[in-house]
Amino acid sequence: MLAAIDLRVYRGPAPVLHGVTLQVDEGEIVAVVGPNGAGKSTLLGALAGCFPPAAGRVMFAGEDVTGTAPETLVRRGLVLVPERRQVFPGLTVRDNLLLGAYHWYRRNKGEAAALLDAVLADFPRLRERIGQLAGSLSGGEQQMLAIGRGIMARPRVLLLDEPSLGLAPKVVTDLFSRFRQLCTRYGTAMILVEQNVRAAFRVADRAYVLERGRVVREGPVEALREDPHVVGAYLGKRLPAALRADAR
Ligand SMILES: Nc1ncnc2c1ncn2[C@@H]1O[C@H](COP(=O)(O)OP(=O)(O)OP(=O)(O)O)[C@@H](O)[C@H]1O
Ligand SMILES: [Mg+2]
Repeated sequence: MLAAIDLRVYRGPAPVLHGVTLQVDEGEIVAVVGPNGAGKSTLLGALAGCFPPAAGRVMFAGEDVTGTAPETLVRRGLVLVPERRQVFPGLTVRDNLLLGAYHWYRRNKGEAAALLDAVLADFPRLRERIGQLAGSLSGGEQQMLAIGRGIMARPRVLLLDEPSLGLAPKVVTDLFSRFRQLCTRYGTAMILVEQNVRAAFRVADRAYVLERGRVVREGPVEALREDPHVVGAYLGKRLPAALRADAR
């Protein structure tokens, strides 16, 4: 459905992605994990058309879309929910959601109303706050809103950049547990960029480990859970809180 082929991307003068190849198939949830600065957000931005690659290709729904503008890709169903849930704080929940459908709702208001209703059924807390300004929502609610807005764009592939950021563990568990259902219901595949590797592995089919702009591991999550590098770097047991250096 969506593939990066040997993608090389610069941010300013510096190369950030050094030939990244990955793909997500129809209906799949694929996680991309890795440390700060590995290039995860750059990868999603490049897939979404925000950073034209210096080399390599992006294939979407059987077509080469390398260099295609983000707004064109959104129309075709490649939709990015960016890092730090960039909702419009001064607009209501309803208007934020409708903005996700800005490119098609005028042509089909009935369908837009039905989709809005479906998204509100998936996220009842948003329904309760439909007239509230997005800036006054909690972090978890804003993340639901950002994802709901993404769904309103009718994605074939939804790119989520660190949806767990700043959320309490229980909120993360609750939010991530809905991803599979959302993919099935709306017929979308998902690339989930995460630093919360455990949470991402619980929901994903396959994963890629990105380090310093390169894929260093890839495979089904069950296999990666057994991989010594993945266990050591991302899944290792943490010391009890009282013994950790950052707790002192
Ligand atoms: N606008 C920019 N100009 C120059 N370099 C940038 C720019 N944005 C990001 N970078 C650099 O690109 C590299 C990758 O950044 P990116 O945001 O893709 O990483 P990331 O894996 O998403 O990290 P994080 O987990 O912290 O979100 C970093 O070294 C970063 O400093
Ligand atoms: Mg990032």
